[in-house]
Amino acid sequence: MKPKIILTGDRPTGRLHIGHYVGSLSRRVQLQNDPSFDRIFIMIADAQALTDNADNPEKLRQNVLEVTLDYLAAGIDPERVNIFIQSAVPELTELTFYYMNLTTVSRVQRNPTVKTEIQMRNFEANIPLGFFCYPVSQAADITLFHGTVVPVGEDQKPMIELTNEIVRRFNATYGETLYEADILLPDNKACQRLPGTDGKAKMSKSLGNCIYLSDPADIVEQKIKSMYTDPTHLRVSDPGHLEGNAVFTYLDAFCRDEHFLKYWPDYKNLDELKEHYTRGGLGDMKCKMFLCKIMQELLEPIRERRHYWEQRIPEVYEILRRGTEEARRVGQQTISEVREAMRINYLDDSALQDEQARKYSPAE
Ligand code: TRP
Repeated sequence: MKPKIILTGDRPTGRLHIGHYVGSLSRRVQLQNDPSFDRIFIMIADAQALTDNADNPEKLRQNVLEVTLDYLAAGIDPERVNIFIQSAVPELTELTFYYMNLTTVSRVQRNPTVKTEIQMRNFEANIPLGFFCYPVSQAADITLFHGTVVPVGEDQKPMIELTNEIVRRFNATYGETLYEADILLPDNKACQRLPGTDGKAKMSKSLGNCIYLSDPADIVEQKIKSMYTDPTHLRVSDPGHLEGNAVFTYLDAFCRDEHFLKYWPDYKNLDELKEHYTRGGLGDMKCKMFLCKIMQELLEPIRERRHYWEQRIPEVYEILRRGTEEARRVGQQTISEVREAMRINYLDDSALQDEQARKYSPAE
């Protein structure tokens, strides 16, 4: 029977922000309490991050810890979830090398996520080969652990599709060995791609439009107060627009009815608030202060847990060490299955050795 194993990960290129939280972290915290999953692996994808940061390993060196702290702060329980470091599992590299023969250059060239990333990084004329191959390595990330459920954002869909193509190709060529994986998308549309505080399409460090999980309360407040809303909403009495209005997109992502009861009982729910806003007569700042209360309620326990772990860095490294050892153990098991299926396990294959010995032994 196909196991239910979660495999997911992040590139350690910076602290995690609330876009990561709604997009994937909160889901992971929820899933770790779901007994129907056999195992959960979270990978810190430092080797993948190197594919476009080869000249800046120092960035990863710092952020492997920051991302781990963010995981623990968000409520990932290291007793239930196996957190590990990608580059410390060499079996991943081995599997990637075999998978490279099971797909084509043109197949990767058509990957829309890779295409956009190449443009964003101005790689057009000079694509690093490692970067180009990262979708293949991602197929190895998932299948080395027999991952069958991959909770990620929509932009990762082409990677899961490629993974499953490689799995089918592998199984057809070498015999049933690997499982196909399902993507698990965030359920709420606003959560799939949270815009930056400036209303731009995506939160990104380089745009300076992120609210980080580790931001202190006063910074969060300041960032929310200066958020992009509706540029045509000049006077309170003007009708407001929701389309592209970052404050309302965040409310879509984070607000629940009970928040109204607690912080703004003038309205029953978000629909009522939106109705008033679009009608006119409701100022942006009131909406922002409401959003701010919701965000602080969410972020305060995260900040507290982060502070707890920040005082225990050696323990955090111990968590990573144990997680990585376990990942290697599982990885070695899968690699031996893979080598056997591919019939390249010469050293462990006594039937092969006997047969070849017989071939050359003098006829009796
Ligand atoms: N590409 C993913 C990202 O940028 C990170 C990642 C690497 C990943 N390997 C993975 C996610 C395997 C899921 C499964 O966010």
